[in-house]
Amino acid sequence: MGYFDEEKNVEEYIRIAEGYDGRELIEVLKKYLPEDSSVLELGMGPGKDLEILSETFQVTGSDNSLAFLDRYKTKNKTVDLLLLNAVEMNIKKKFDGIYSNKVLHHLSKEELKKSLIRQAAVLNKNGILFHSFWYGDKEEEYSGLRFTYYTEKTFLTMPRTEYELLEIQSYSEMEKDDSLYIVLRKN
Ligand SMILES: C[S@@+](CC[C@H](N)C(=O)[O-])C[C@H]1O[C@@H](n2cnc3c(N)ncnc32)[C@H](O)[C@@H]1O
Repeated sequence: MGYFDEEKNVEEYIRIAEGYDGRELIEVLKKYLPEDSSVLELGMGPGKDLEILSETFQVTGSDNSLAFLDRYKTKNKTVDLLLLNAVEMNIKKKFDGIYSNKVLHHLSKEELKKSLIRQAAVLNKNGILFHSFWYGDKEEEYSGLRFTYYTEKTFLTMPRTEYELLEIQSYSEMEKDDSLYIVLRKN
């Protein structure tokens, strides 16, 4: 059972994330993806970013936590939702964009490599990836939950043969320059 499969951890996350959303990150994504493009969100959690994405794009939400998905389904019955592990990316449908906000830092570096390869298979040609991470150069574990931090330099060691790097940028979420986002285009 994963950390976010437990209702109490889901509630605790929602409490901590109160007042934060990815609206500014989604503005960056909008520079690269035309309106009405299809976008898959990985690790949607409470679904705040999914709602912002849906103002512009045709969205599919996903998470590997049923607790988060079930909670979201009770307030929005029409949205397209999937139980999906970001490492395996076991999905046949293809998308113009894949977005995540503070999700892929829960993967090990090896898992992130695998995920990026799998994501290329799920993207249409010239499709866009947008992902955010916590900024730093360390790996930690709290209550069985992994945190892998990236800097521009360490992220650039990831194999990117299938992608062109469009942007890599530090930004501030809770503290100054505590975060990093990357934008990649599938070749
Ligand atoms: C820190 S929360 C971020 C949630 C949301 N993106 C937000 O910005 O509020 C991390 C989310 O990633 C999900 N997650 C963690 N590992 C995952 C994996 N391997 N595949 C899919 N989702 C994962 C968790 O269930 C949780 O919803």
